[in-house]
Amino acid sequence: MSPEPIISRFTAAGQGQVFRFWNELAPAEREALLAQAAEVDLDEIARLHRELVVEKPATAAGVAGLEPAPFEPRPENGGDTAKWMRARAAGEEALRAGRVAAFTVAGGQGTRLGYDGPKGTFPVTPVKKKTLFQVFAEKILAAGRRFGRPLHWFIMTSHANHAQTEQFFAAHDYFGLGRDRVHLFRQGRMPAIGFDGKILLETKGSIALSPDGHGGSLRALHRSGALDLMEREGIDTLSYFQVDNPLVRCIDAEFIGFHLLARSEMSSKALPKAYPEEKVGLFCLRDGKLMVAEYSDVPMDVQRERNADGSLRFSAGSIAIHVIDREFARRMAAGGAAVELPFHRADKKIPTVDAAGQPVKPAAPNGVKFELFVFDALPFARSPLVIETDRANDFSPVKNAEGLDSPRTCAEDQLRQFARWLRSAGADLAVDATGLPAHKIEISPLYGYDAETVSESWRRRPASTITPNLYLE
Ligand code: UTP
Repeated sequence: MSPEPIISRFTAAGQGQVFRFWNELAPAEREALLAQAAEVDLDEIARLHRELVVEKPATAAGVAGLEPAPFEPRPENGGDTAKWMRARAAGEEALRAGRVAAFTVAGGQGTRLGYDGPKGTFPVTPVKKKTLFQVFAEKILAAGRRFGRPLHWFIMTSHANHAQTEQFFAAHDYFGLGRDRVHLFRQGRMPAIGFDGKILLETKGSIALSPDGHGGSLRALHRSGALDLMEREGIDTLSYFQVDNPLVRCIDAEFIGFHLLARSEMSSKALPKAYPEEKVGLFCLRDGKLMVAEYSDVPMDVQRERNADGSLRFSAGSIAIHVIDREFARRMAAGGAAVELPFHRADKKIPTVDAAGQPVKPAAPNGVKFELFVFDALPFARSPLVIETDRANDFSPVKNAEGLDSPRTCAEDQLRQFARWLRSAGADLAVDATGLPAHKIEISPLYGYDAETVSESWRRRPASTITPNLYLE
């Protein structure tokens, strides 16, 4: 790569500081820096600095005109049972026809958990300490067996964790899914800038680049060739979930069926908020269009508003579980003024170097990172649909090292789920007032991944007694 044109472009854009230490760099370091610089869209950075830093849109101004979004209630909460059964049948038919693939976004940095390695390799289950990736793999394998069509699994990684993730899957022989059915691809990156708009260096020879957010998944699906591969394989529907939630129904026939019957381009699961202050995005309508408002953008008094029956007016929380139509992802990836995901700004402490090239670890935010959010695609989707889900069977993420949404709370939620399934299958198992069994047990997704499949297996192969550390597989 010839350095001059790139360096001149950066200099002309007022970003010459990126090459400040050029004369001190070894040839390989120069090559690496040029390759990073070639990734950067200087016009986009200038625009984002102007729009999101200089002009600073007032976040709360966005609340005007928000209405709660309607959603499809679960049968036990007054929903139409026949409709849920029709949805399930439609979803199962699509699964039997091989139209569905699983899609996990696993490119995040996982800073809150503070685990050294790709988050998907974090051990989460209570007895066997299976990793997040293994739990999802076994659920996907189980669904493939049930519907007679092995599923493809697409996983978005980051530059930072791609190689390790690849090695992890190879070392575990792709958990029996088959190497040709597990597709890893990297998401894009964005440079961090100082508040003055200058691109920050991480070291003398590298730009401070970070993943472009889970919304980067739509472009990355396209860029990596994943969408074309799906088309060749006859897959038109993606079941999207995050890497941190082992309770998720990776492949949920009812959800897929609702999405297909509504001819929706992007569907979502909503969780009724447990309490007004719960930090989840809210499904809303603005000008008739479905969107997710971030909790920090909706004033607390609005989040506390109640309906006449005492329920929260804005209750439908977003838990980042979606079904996405393949061609919708392609349309969003192509972008253009009509369908462009907006970047969000996050002020961060960004490790960098000072004018002398010495490392600086800032104590306060010193700049801005830019991220895309996948739910920002909703207003562009045709017939977007929201269905209600139940927390106990779909959501218990591992976000923090301790406290709320930690490995401990997640393991306990798994134990409660296993105990519920076993008790509904007829097993004799004592639980406390919160549903937690007295000792640890674990059920492999290959034994059963919901009440129905666990009951089926239990009828064929019950355990004589439920002993501590019992593992059903
Ligand atoms: P989070 O919002 O929890 O972010 O991501 P994170 O980076 O993983 O964790 P923290 O905030 O640093 O602690 C939600 C989901 O979106 C994915 C994550 O891997 C996770 O599955 N994600 C997030 C990406 O794939 N890419 C991104 O750029 C950001």
